[in-house]
Amino acid sequence: MEVKSLNRNIIQRLFGTSETKLPKDKSCWSYKDGKVIIDLTKVPELSKHYGAIRLEGKDMPNRLLVIRGNDEFFYAFKNHCTHRQRRLDPVPGTDTVQCCSVGKSTFDFGGLKLSGAAQADIKTYAVTKKDNILTVLVN
Ligand code: FES
Repeated sequence: MEVKSLNRNIIQRLFGTSETKLPKDKSCWSYKDGKVIIDLTKVPELSKHYGAIRLEGKDMPNRLLVIRGNDEFFYAFKNHCTHRQRRLDPVPGTDTVQCCSVGKSTFDFGGLKLSGAAQADIKTYAVTKKDNILTVLVN
């Protein structure tokens, strides 16, 4: 698989500023008992291919990155690069996610490391969709 890089400037990479934002409507998701529930009617960010949000807080044990793939499926990742724990972003047009830092570690949608400074794969989580509700099992 060809690895492409997100077009980020050196300041963004040095500070590890991710491109993916928190959802505009913070009420779109909840976390309880190892499950993240996302109401897609409140998340326009996930209405297009390679759209993404990052979810943090609400007593969830790890940061989460959720992406709508190019195949109508949704993908969820522990949002910690295995190099130095920086955040990840989707690389539009590819089924990969990339660390926002200088090392640009890149992983496929299965979490497999493809390139970069990271020494290990990243964790992925199962996502199911029923009507407009996504459920991510993060345990
Ligand atoms: S923290 Fe991800 S490549 Fe360094």
